[in-house]
Amino acid sequence: MKKIAINGFGRIGRSSLKIILDTPDLEVVGINDLMTIENAVYLLKYDSIYGKYNKKVSFEGDFILIDDHKIRYTAIKDPAELPWKELQVDVVIESTGFFTNKADAEKHLTAGSKFVVISGPTKDTPTVVHGVNTEDGKVAVFSCASCTTNNISPIIEILGRRIGIKKAILNTTHAYTASQTLVDAPSKREPRMGRTAGINLAPAATGAAIATTKALPQYLGKFDGVAVRVPVPVGSISDITFVTEKPTTVEEINSVLIEESKTDRYHKVVAVTDEPLVSTDIIKSPFAATVDLEMTRVVDGDLVKVMAWYDNEWGFTNQMIRQIQEL
Ligand SMILES: NC(=O)c1ccc[n+]([C@@H]2O[C@H](COP(=O)([O-])OP(=O)(O)OC[C@H]3O[C@@H](n4cnc5c(N)ncnc54)[C@H](O)[C@@H]3O)[C@@H](O)[C@H]2O)c1
Repeated sequence: MKKIAINGFGRIGRSSLKIILDTPDLEVVGINDLMTIENAVYLLKYDSIYGKYNKKVSFEGDFILIDDHKIRYTAIKDPAELPWKELQVDVVIESTGFFTNKADAEKHLTAGSKFVVISGPTKDTPTVVHGVNTEDGKVAVFSCASCTTNNISPIIEILGRRIGIKKAILNTTHAYTASQTLVDAPSKREPRMGRTAGINLAPAATGAAIATTKALPQYLGKFDGVAVRVPVPVGSISDITFVTEKPTTVEEINSVLIEESKTDRYHKVVAVTDEPLVSTDIIKSPFAATVDLEMTRVVDGDLVKVMAWYDNEWGFTNQMIRQIQEL
């Protein structure tokens, strides 16, 4: 049984706890966030997207109680001070969004954990997308990249291997996240990220395509992309356009994706659908990508478009937990 701690009990931190509580070989022993334990329990109990939690949740002193689990809760700002040694933590999920570089993430090792998994893109640690480059995740600190990178990398890997991709470009129509604002405000990231999230289509940069080239270095310089943040709280769809090495057809692209979605390598990661889904239908899907087969297009034999759904919170977090199970 691997002992897990969660630093940052936000959207990804709480999804991580819920998924791990239903995963037999993992156990959460510590949670750290700067909010009070009352607030943490409240947000665990009531979720505007996933509904009221189906387990009994309360707290007693410094412990969150969930059915018969008892989890130590702390509110400490500096990761180096966290009680990971005392709790015999094996793996920390670093999901604050703040300690994303190697030196900061390593503070969890100083605190006593054996491994740190960062729930977002980083500049200076290995990037691991479960299913795509699972074997690169045998190091003490690594990043599981972003939800979008987890969504697009398997598709690029599959179609690159089976059909051949010369170059590709992404647009993801992406749910809003905590990095945006509720009303117009200054943004550290880029101006449009500071515009009222609930009423705007906000074109934005995304590092997701570039991060894909960290997992699949053969596409370095050949894959880039953009995002449009849209007024839905969760549920996103990527749109990948690429030029193939050899002529292909819609039937060939779709049959390759259907076939690969049944393999040992990808059956938990990639799904396909021929149903007319909309974004709310993808909420709580554990897959990194659900290819919308009806949307596949081929122009003149070598210009291809593939679209794939993802629950940017739940799908991503499942990918991260699957990768943690490999440690
Ligand atoms: N939301 C998504 O769709 C999504 C998907 C994939 C990856 N991510 C990444 O996961 C990370 C977290 O995103 P989120 O959406 O869960 O954000 P969030 O704002 O919901 O959660 C972050 C949590 O970290 C806590 N926090 C801040 N500073 C802290 C500190 N010093 N110590 C402990 N806790 C601290 C905050 O109180 C908050 O509860 C980001 O890097 C984000 O890019 C998010």
